[in-house]
Amino acid sequence: MATAGPQDGTQQTGGQEARRGAFSSRKVFILAAIGSAVGLGNIWRFPYVAYENGGGAFVIPYLIALLTAGLPFLFLDYALGHKHRGSAPLSMARENRKAEPLGWWQVGICFVIAVYYAVIIAYALRYTFFSVNKAWGDDPEGYFFGEFLQTSDPGVTLDFVAGVLIALLVVWAAVLLIMGLGVQKGIGATSVVFIPLLVLAFGFLVVRALFLPGAADGLDTLFTPDWDALTNASVWAAAFGQIFFSLSIGFGIMITYASYVGRRTDMTGSGMVVGLSNSGFELLAGIGVFAALGFMAQANGTAVDEVVADGIGLAFVAFPTIISEAAGGSLIGVLFFGSLVIAGLTSLISVLEVVVSAVRDKFDLRRLTAVLVVGVPATVLSVVLFSTTSGLLVLDIVDYFINQFGILLVAVVTMVVLGLALRALPGLAAHLNRHGSLRLGKVWMAMVAVVTPLALGYVLVRAFIDTVKEPYGGYPDWMLNVFGWGTAALVLIVALVITFARRTAVTPADETDQEVDR
Ligand code: ALA
Repeated sequence: MATAGPQDGTQQTGGQEARRGAFSSRKVFILAAIGSAVGLGNIWRFPYVAYENGGGAFVIPYLIALLTAGLPFLFLDYALGHKHRGSAPLSMARENRKAEPLGWWQVGICFVIAVYYAVIIAYALRYTFFSVNKAWGDDPEGYFFGEFLQTSDPGVTLDFVAGVLIALLVVWAAVLLIMGLGVQKGIGATSVVFIPLLVLAFGFLVVRALFLPGAADGLDTLFTPDWDALTNASVWAAAFGQIFFSLSIGFGIMITYASYVGRRTDMTGSGMVVGLSNSGFELLAGIGVFAALGFMAQANGTAVDEVVADGIGLAFVAFPTIISEAAGGSLIGVLFFGSLVIAGLTSLISVLEVVVSAVRDKFDLRRLTAVLVVGVPATVLSVVLFSTTSGLLVLDIVDYFINQFGILLVAVVTMVVLGLALRALPGLAAHLNRHGSLRLGKVWMAMVAVVTPLALGYVLVRAFIDTVKEPYGGYPDWMLNVFGWGTAALVLIVALVITFARRTAVTPADETDQEVDR
């Protein structure tokens, strides 16, 4: 175990501070934060959400959500992590002991997300190779659900699907290796290599898609504004929901990453770069995906709105169809699925880092030990739950519930607790203002303590009523109770147990920059 030397300046806080690791520069931090933000949410979620919620008119609620909730909450996460230099629970505890359970709640949510997010990357990994010889033949839908996933009827099975299981093990091995290498040599270096690669691959894909016949019809369909949509509350709800998942805010990620950044870094300026890059990428994805769907519609002689699909259907059914029909389809496939793998991996490592750093801080573990303590159970659960013939059904339920009643709920509670109950915002704003290029003042506090909680609170209440009225996805009640409501509740219970089972030693945050990466 490494010890802190006097040169680390950590005598007051002990060896743990020096061993946390750090990004080597602001540039690396920004690339890692973009790597976390740009993920499956951008590539397959945004195009469909924008199309479903007013098309071109969606730009308005989306931008308002970005400015009133996205960036303000990003700054809140940055302030917590950067000021207190700890994992989500430790940073919360340093802000105020009473806030520690919020951090563990976020950690639990991240654990759940990591366990299923890896599976989608595994699918994409297989499909990168399937694209080369268009393994799905002339029936992409039948191939995906029948041959590849061998999807069962609703229920839970332990019938493992070798094709998914092996790819999933490869994904977990890669992720744990990167995490084991440390903050700079693992997470930072991966982002420095993969993010430019992702921009190149995806940029090329978008340009190729724009030259496909029918592309203009696709873009017309996406961008034709439906102004009436702006009077529809669910459109605004969709914009706020999209921003939170996509920017990786509210579930501990940005707190954790900000804790690895040098003391004198301009965090607000960095946040603007990250926020705008994420939205830029989202727009790019919308353009590329709809150009490709326009081509698919023309090839099939149908209207674009008849070929639009969301999430899993878009990636693993619509895109293979496009790949089969377009000239140079295999290259489009490798670029599309390769981009999903890269974007997914750099997000997955950020989600898992929330858990690893929290466990390290609480139990004073070496990095490698923490990676194994977190990674081995995560891998086992991932395999047992999701590489079986019932995996996709369980994934669909867990994803829906943990997004609504995990991420959004913890975000609202965090803002109310920190903003209104503990009055933490002035101190946090002062911290970011010390080196920030953007001044945070009363407007920021009003956004974080009032506007965003009201907007998100509304989104949540609506989602709750809808979900109670109409069981999600038509799944049997017991499945929704166990994997949906049950998972969301379990995360909260575990968070309370961990907080109170062992008192956290809340030492002051280290004031020195950390050069070490162990
Ligand atoms: N922000 C990540 C995504 O968009 C989690 O997928």
